[in-house]
Amino acid sequence: MNLPQGPKLPDWWLWMQFAADPLGFLDKMNQRYGDTFTIMSESTPLIFVGNPQGMKQIFTNTTEIIAAGELNKEAAPLVGKNGLLLLDGLRHRSRRQLLMSPLHGTKIRTYGQQICDVTEKVMNQLSIGKSFLAYPTMQKITLEVILNTLFGLHQGDRYEQLKQLLTNLMNYARSPFVEIPLSFPFLQQDLGRWSPWGYFRYLWRQFDELIYAEISDRRQQPNPDANNVLCELIFAHNETGELFTNEEIRDLFPSLLFGGRDASATAITWALYWIHRTPTVREKLLKEIKSLSNSPDPMSIVELPYLNAVCHEILRIYPTQVVTFPRRVELPTNLMGYKLSPGTVIIGCIYLTHQNPELYPQPQQFQPERFLEKQYSPYEFMPFGGGARRCPGEALAFFEMKLVLATILSRYQLALTNTQPEKPQPQGANYPPASRLKMVLCKIP
Ligand code: HEM
Repeated sequence: MNLPQGPKLPDWWLWMQFAADPLGFLDKMNQRYGDTFTIMSESTPLIFVGNPQGMKQIFTNTTEIIAAGELNKEAAPLVGKNGLLLLDGLRHRSRRQLLMSPLHGTKIRTYGQQICDVTEKVMNQLSIGKSFLAYPTMQKITLEVILNTLFGLHQGDRYEQLKQLLTNLMNYARSPFVEIPLSFPFLQQDLGRWSPWGYFRYLWRQFDELIYAEISDRRQQPNPDANNVLCELIFAHNETGELFTNEEIRDLFPSLLFGGRDASATAITWALYWIHRTPTVREKLLKEIKSLSNSPDPMSIVELPYLNAVCHEILRIYPTQVVTFPRRVELPTNLMGYKLSPGTVIIGCIYLTHQNPELYPQPQQFQPERFLEKQYSPYEFMPFGGGARRCPGEALAFFEMKLVLATILSRYQLALTNTQPEKPQPQGANYPPASRLKMVLCKIP
């Protein structure tokens, strides 16, 4: 086995540096060792790969390099033992396929008007002249959208209960009371509702009660025409040809809820940051949006070419997820000339690929035009990862991002309250702005 070069420092020290300034750390590694480097985690080599040739192999060589669910086992208390992230092989493939259907193509079009309406509803709760934090505000919008997409719920008691509970649960999941025990499993002690981990378990139990009640209602009053993930799963069969059990259905939701709320909110928050830092982009975008009628059809918004380029550039410059989920070498393989043995872990570095100056000249500058001038391959631009774990929410995420942005820009005038550059900070798998982005609502035109 011959490995790419890398730092010889203890891995805990390197992870601390990564947590403090993830992009700074990756930039430093890139300068010292190039876009492919090794960090030793005890005796396991972790290889970070940040170039198109390597990405292509990670995403396409699925016999020698697998997306083992076991590698994500730390996330089990968050996403469930049978959640997509913890699955692999046939079970992973077939359950992903089932989920993808209501999250794609013509099906998501039906959510267009609702996304614009929710955006207005949440933005109208802000006061003119008062500052607000963009990230939690965008999380309110994306939570409502994902609840509708997954469960078909947008009003009623159960919807209100789920919305409140999930807000508490997902925010608590990002607090040190949960993040520290996730890294140190011996701290995961349920000592009752008033203990830190016990409270987390208590919130999950409440989630289970609500979702099982909803599943049971849907089984009693089936609606085969309904267009949402829950209805799709209720009528579907698992890999052994049987209907999914309530537990199997429940376990598929947490990873979709976290991705649906937090990854999308991260992307939209960065969009607000870059658009308001770059007045020329904001003006060009507004002109394009205003070239449509006063209440445009959501599909005509989604097809706007400059808006499309802006969304691509936002996900390039600060991808919401800086690295892919890990993959593992299953059979001896050759990755860009390095001979790797089984057990080696490979991590696709989305950020470093997106910072390659040969692909993206002046990579630290926000230049949406590059996406009008050139078509990038899926191994050069991959904010949604690729291969076996490619994000199942990609179509919904782009659709939602464009509609939320177009609604905010055309109906509200916002400004940043801080002129200092923002830095991404890890929150679970996502990297929103460290300050959560303070903005002010100047006026409603
Ligand atoms: C702009 C928004 C989003 C971005 C940039 C994003 C990005 C990603 C990335 C990079 C991955 C890992 C892919 C890999 O390892 O190759 C991923 C996986 C995943 N995403 Fe997203 N995501 C977004 C929105 C969403 C939405 C809206 C949902 C839910 C509807 C979602 C659900 C998931 C799930 C469940 C996985 C795990 C897939 C698996 O294990 O097979 N994401 N996402």
